[in-house]
Amino acid sequence: MSKLLVVANWKMNPQTEHEAAALARDAAAAVEALQNVEIVLCPPFPFLNAVREAAPLLFLGAQDCFWEPQGAYTGEVSADMLKYMECTHVIVGHSERRRQVGETLEMVNKKVRATILKGLTPIVCVGEESEDSDKKELHSQLEQILAGVSSEDMKNVVLVYEPVWAISAQGKYHPASPELVSERISLFREAVSRMFGEEIGAGARMLYGGSVNAENVKSFIKEGGVQGALVGQASLNAAAFANLVRNMIL
Ligand code: PGA
Repeated sequence: MSKLLVVANWKMNPQTEHEAAALARDAAAAVEALQNVEIVLCPPFPFLNAVREAAPLLFLGAQDCFWEPQGAYTGEVSADMLKYMECTHVIVGHSERRRQVGETLEMVNKKVRATILKGLTPIVCVGEESEDSDKKELHSQLEQILAGVSSEDMKNVVLVYEPVWAISAQGKYHPASPELVSERISLFREAVSRMFGEEIGAGARMLYGGSVNAENVKSFIKEGGVQGALVGQASLNAAAFANLVRNMIL
């Protein structure tokens, strides 16, 4: 069984390079002694370098990447550029990008394939819009997002069940229940098994994201059946984040 994985998605925070380096340094110092867990820090693009230098023992990830390798694509960042910055992971298809910048499932699929091609690990977010959405929506999202990925490459894809309604807002947490997470993770495994075979379905690394904090993280691992978490708000304070990681593995 692979190690637990925690992905810190800082979103558009903090505001300065200085604060980003301090957060990375403090978080790294607080989690350094913890074993059996992989931690990926995903700061905004301009702070990648500072975070890599401040936390050299943690993995570095980006929050997005474009699918074309180079050219006239104003404002975009390629997978090669991220590799050059020593990123190992990339969050792809976060619902905030789908909602706020109109990213489609087709675009997410191109991004997944572009990151795989360059040897980066895509952390792919999939989730329903509202609490009463139908399960078919998730099946169809998975099929579109993973189209054209080979079974071999699928071994390196991380899937996140990230229900849009569960993402924290204005400081408030609205997590999904561990029972729902467990149900959805089984659905994800079924879909991945159907597309890539039983072995890949059973072994795929799956996380939960949406209002995860130090208090609830363990329930998603124990009862939700996930192998880690994608953490937004609770990753912006080094002590709270370290507590979360500790509670997850102990
Ligand atoms: P949150 O963000 O932990 O602040 O809810 C999670 C996410 O972006 O998936």
